[in-house]
Amino acid sequence: MAQLSSTGPVIPFESSWALTPWTDRRTLVPFSSDRTRRAWDAGAEAWEEFVESGADYYRTEVHGPALLDACGEIEQLRVLDLGCGQGWFSRQLARRGARVIGVDLSPAMLAHARRHEEEEPLGIEYVEMDAAQVHRSLAPASFELVTACMSIQDMGDPHEAIDAVGQLLPIGGRLVFSVPHPFSEMAYREWERDEEGNKLALKVDR
Ligand SMILES: C[S@@+](CC[C@H](N)C(=O)[O-])C[C@H]1O[C@@H](n2cnc3c(N)ncnc32)[C@H](O)[C@@H]1O
Repeated sequence: MAQLSSTGPVIPFESSWALTPWTDRRTLVPFSSDRTRRAWDAGAEAWEEFVESGADYYRTEVHGPALLDACGEIEQLRVLDLGCGQGWFSRQLARRGARVIGVDLSPAMLAHARRHEEEEPLGIEYVEMDAAQVHRSLAPASFELVTACMSIQDMGDPHEAIDAVGQLLPIGGRLVFSVPHPFSEMAYREWERDEEGNKLALKVDR
């Protein structure tokens, strides 16, 4: 069951980290597209609420505006939004005049994206597709801009996805993306608090 926590939704990833029996060090197991799809399908409700409730305030206050700024002038640009999820960033782009196609692996995330499009038609098309395969279905040089808002880090093979989108961009086309800082993804993460529960420091090691 997916749930919201004060720091973000708890997405029920099927152990993308595996503990080896002889040590407490964590060993990274690569994501497969199937596992990623299942995880995001299971987490779609929680993500939708996290984003739309405003609880994900870093998105609205920090990294979302920064990513939009990095895109520059996008009026009438053809934009592919990679790993678009429930479409928050695709909608930001479309509201600024871009012609947007959003792709994502997760049908449950796309169902939310399409519902938002029905409620507020912005001309965004959403397609269920693995980012690493986009060059097989979409025409070469068919976009001026590819964006990825906090999604590349969740892809099984980011290099493959970046190679694939490279084929969709003309010379001078751009890929503009955001990823979480590695510091925020440390395996150990605990807030040290005072007696009233106020945050004092974030511990990323014991
Ligand atoms: C952290 S969410 C971000 C979603 C959205 N961009 C946002 O800003 O809310 C990561 C998204 O990447 C998608 N994703 C992960 N791997 C993918 C892949 N190989 N191809 C397409 N989408 C993928 C997931 O399904 C999920 O919706």
